[in-house]
Amino acid sequence: MSPRSGGQDGATGPPAPTPEALAFRESLGGVFPDHVAIIMDGNGRWAQERGWVRVRGHKEGTESVRAITTIAAELGCKSLTLYAFSRENWKRPDFEVATLMRLLRLYLRRELRTLMDNGIRLVAIGRLSDLPEYAQRALRETMERTAGNTGMVLRLALSYGGRTEVADALRSFSEDVAAGRRRPEEIDEETLREYLYDPGTGDPDLIIRTAGEMRLSNFLLWQASYAEFYVTEDCWPDFRRPQFEEALRAFAARKQKYGGLLPGALADSESAEEILEPERSSEAGERGA
Ligand code: FPP
Repeated sequence: MSPRSGGQDGATGPPAPTPEALAFRESLGGVFPDHVAIIMDGNGRWAQERGWVRVRGHKEGTESVRAITTIAAELGCKSLTLYAFSRENWKRPDFEVATLMRLLRLYLRRELRTLMDNGIRLVAIGRLSDLPEYAQRALRETMERTAGNTGMVLRLALSYGGRTEVADALRSFSEDVAAGRRRPEEIDEETLREYLYDPGTGDPDLIIRTAGEMRLSNFLLWQASYAEFYVTEDCWPDFRRPQFEEALRAFAARKQKYGGLLPGALADSESAEEILEPERSSEAGERGA
C-alpha cells in the first residue's frame, strides 16, 4: 500500500482505498462507523484453552492489534480506540503486568512502519505517568513521529479508567477556576469534554467487546452514551478481518433502521385499531363525564 504525503516532513496520509475495501463499504449501504472502540478481552482464556501461559495470549493479541488497525485504516475508519490496559489491570501478577508493558514497547517499535505506511496518528489516553519510563518514552517517540499523519487516529487507552478520566477532567477544571482562568458557571458538557484526556477523541459510534462479557468495564464512560454495543464470543487473538467485518455488518444493519422499520417488516393494518378498544371506551367515558 503506498502512503500518500500528509504535507509535513515524512508525514503520510490515509492509504488509497483498495477495490475490496470500496466493495465492502458499498455492501454496507454506506453505513459505516467513523469511530470504532474495542474492549480487547479474552487473551488469557485463549491461551489457557490451548494449555499455554496467559501472556502468550497477549502476544498473539498484538497480532490482532496490527491486523485490525491496518484493516480499519484501509476501510476508511477515522478513529480506532483500543482498551489496551485498564487501571484495574495493575492488580494482575507482576510478571503479567511487566510482560504487557514490554509487549507495548515492542509493538510501538515494530509497528511504526505500519503506522507510517497507513497514515495513522498514534495518541495515548489514560494516566500515562503510571507507566514505566521506558514505555512512556516509546509512546512519546511514536506519537511525535506520527503527529503529522493525516489518516486514521489510533488511540491506545493505557492505565485508563472512565471514572478516573472524568475525575481528572474535573480536577483540571477546578485548578483553572482556582487560577482565575475559568468560572464555575462555565462547566457544561462541551467544556468538560475539553478537559478529557484527548478532547479530539469524540464519541465512538460502535464499541466492540470480544470474549463474550456484556460490560463496559469503565471504558469511555463519558463518550459511550450513544454508541452501539457489539459483543462477540471470539477471544481477541481470534478477532481478525472476518470477525471485524461481521461487527461492521451488524452495526450497519442496526443503523439502517433509523427509528423506522427494517426493510421487509410488515406494517400494521388499520384493523390493529382494535387493540385500542379499551382506551377508546374510557376516552368516550371521560368525554361524557
Ligand atoms: C484482556 O485479556 C486484555 C488485556 C488486559 C490487555 C490487552 C493487551 C493486548 C491486546 C496486547 C498488548 C496491546 C498493545 C496495544 C501492544 P484478559 O487477559 O483479561 O483475558 P481473560 O479475560 O481471558 O483473562
